[in-house]
Amino acid sequence: MNVGIDAVAIHAGKLRLDLAETLAPALDEEPEKFTKGLGLHASSFPDVEEDIVTMGANAAHKLMERKGLTPDDIGRIDVATESAFDNAKPVSTYVAGCLEQVYGEDFHHANKGERKFACIAGTQSLDDAYNWIRAGRNRGRAALVIATDTALYARGDAGEATQGAGAVAMLIAEDPDLVEMSVEQGFGSADETDFLKPNQQFPSVDGQRSVQVYLARMREALEDYESVAEETHPDQFEYIPFHTPFPGMVRKAALLGYRHMIRNTEIEADLTAAIGEQPRPDGFDDESQYRDAVRDYMDALKETDAYAAWYDDTIEPTLDIARHVGNWYTGSVHVARASALRSAREAGIDMTGKSLLLGSYGSGAQAEIHVETVQEEWTEEIDALDIDEQLAARRDISFAEYEEIHDVHNHDKEIDIDAFTTPSEEFVRDGSGPMDERTYRYVE
Ligand code: HMG
Repeated sequence: MNVGIDAVAIHAGKLRLDLAETLAPALDEEPEKFTKGLGLHASSFPDVEEDIVTMGANAAHKLMERKGLTPDDIGRIDVATESAFDNAKPVSTYVAGCLEQVYGEDFHHANKGERKFACIAGTQSLDDAYNWIRAGRNRGRAALVIATDTALYARGDAGEATQGAGAVAMLIAEDPDLVEMSVEQGFGSADETDFLKPNQQFPSVDGQRSVQVYLARMREALEDYESVAEETHPDQFEYIPFHTPFPGMVRKAALLGYRHMIRNTEIEADLTAAIGEQPRPDGFDDESQYRDAVRDYMDALKETDAYAAWYDDTIEPTLDIARHVGNWYTGSVHVARASALRSAREAGIDMTGKSLLLGSYGSGAQAEIHVETVQEEWTEEIDALDIDEQLAARRDISFAEYEEIHDVHNHDKEIDIDAFTTPSEEFVRDGSGPMDERTYRYVE
């Protein structure tokens, strides 16, 4: 049975913070630290009337309209988020409530839930939907998976430059139009305290350690994937979309992945004259000597033409959108996939039948690797994305406005300011009800 992603729609937060022009001078940082070091130019922020529900519902509505769906076609709504504002009532119930307002039909038949495992919950929700369909429990219906987050850090945290907000809605179905997902998966999962939110809105982060944990879990997941599938080779995949907290992180993961994939291949052999063979642990008495040798080899590998060409073709196109929106947590790897396919479309590459290797990650920590095969109708799906229009329409905010909007979305503060943008044909938050529930309406 061929199951995978049938359609995708993206909603970006409607405000834009320029990192080099606005954030860097205010924080007394070099702009190049953000643009070159982290690889980020701007963050997307939610306007006053936006939150994880409106962004998720707006993405889902766009997707349903485009595919000509009604609630009766959807048997499951899963929301992946780490920005929830309620410990019992799932965000998917709010999203369904929004959609019911415009369809005049209910989702009472749909199984709803909320998935939590930091950023990897988006991919885990895809897996849940995939399994539900393959188990034959879907009664012919598709699943709606929505990854939605306001990825905000406490003011002054090192993560402040990596913030972002947005939602990705995906329809999971049999005989999908976009990508088929592999049965084979690999996992790397360990009890880690690199990034967590113990009953608090903004994360406690051990930033430098989180980078190391990402790499360690990703390597484990790749090895685990190879144990059930086959050895991977760099030429096997047209693109490798990774979870992208910031493009600089992906730069590190890609180099590690490349080194792993070229081991014992003709690529390693061809590079031997220039940079030597990869160090193997059994060639060293001492673990730290081995690690130093690996670091030297990686530094040399990074400078080779073979690596640079592979990186430009396989990784760089996955980062185009992330550079302008920041980290979307659960949606991030799904933005990277869309970014790659959009780039292929622009370059006129025929992707039908080609493979993507997806590297998902969530702090806490877990990485997951699976393969996706691009389907024949992929061009229609990618042509329907309106992300460029959304990014161009964002309202730039000053540093003082950024401070206000950060406070507006801080659960511990009560700030009443006017929205910066005027909503049109979208869901907005319009306050709270008697039980402190959030309330929403559709603006024509
Ligand atoms: P930092 O300590 O402020 O920055 O925070 P840095 O000093 O490490 O510099 C960053 C890079 O910029 C470095 O590049 C510098 O060399 C370079 P690298 O050496 O690493 O390649 N740099 C410059 N380059 C050019 N010109 C300059 C310049 N200055 C410096 N003038 C850190 C960095 C990532 C720690 C911080 O942003 C942070 O804490 N971020 C949040 C945590 C995070 O994103 N971790 C990533 C892995 S964990 C993950 O992905 C999960 C996550 O998405 C959450 C979830 O799963 O839910 C976060």
